Amino acid sequence: MDANMKKLIAANWKMHKTGMEAHKLLSELDPFLNTLPTDREVAIFPPFTALAACANISPKRFQLGAQNCHYAKEGAFTGEISANMLKCAGCSKVLLGHSERRTLFHEDDVILGKKASTALEEGLGIVFCIGETLTEREAGRLRSVLARQLAVLPEIATDVSSHICIAYEPVWAIGTGKVAGLHEIVEAHEIVRNLLLARYGSDGKSVRILYGGGVKANNTGEIINLENVDGVLVGNASMNIDTFGKIILDW
Ligand code: PGA
Repeated sequence: MDANMKKLIAANWKMHKTGMEAHKLLSELDPFLNTLPTDREVAIFPPFTALAACANISPKRFQLGAQNCHYAKEGAFTGEISANMLKCAGCSKVLLGHSERRTLFHEDDVILGKKASTALEEGLGIVFCIGETLTEREAGRLRSVLARQLAVLPEIATDVSSHICIAYEPVWAIGTGKVAGLHEIVEAHEIVRNLLLARYGSDGKSVRILYGGGVKANNTGEIINLENVDGVLVGNASMNIDTFGKIILDW
């Protein structure tokens, strides 16, 4: 790992927490964030309706991101939110391609490629989620699935790592309590690293690759220190102060 690269610990709160609940949790988290070692940073992805409450916290010792955005810059898309709206609401990042979006909301590679391009054009960083299903893994298609999902990312002229971050999340390990074995994580992250190098040249070396799926207080340390693992994306365990406090500090 690049010595200047900070590990990123990202919290995906999914469809949990009102603005008040989000504010309360972040206030409780502040003492932990205040003692955060300089080798790491924290990003919080609350639901849209809690963004304002989180953006107004001061001092804000975390990066704020949203869980989705539309691919159009604006227009007649009832119920949707644009990248620029997120920026104006205080977000610096957006999560795209989460497997729940791909599966439950039918977001395919084409749509996700358009979302990624628009978000980047509008000045948001993206955390782009990829990962295989159990069937794909068992059919020996791990590499081809990851390659197909990554192929939609746009060209980026400079400083790729400040614009994109990848989250490898095997679908079978998300919210199921299952965690990929350490060997499986290393294998998948190496594949992703090589795909990034092929796509972005030597810039691909410093693009952070997060692991997500079943990350908890008691396994963060062994996962986050693996080769090519530059952080974690945490769902369930990020919504509770005791577990998330440990996840950000205790490794
Ligand atoms: P999990 O979710 O930590 O609850 O497995 C991860 C995610 O959905 O990003």
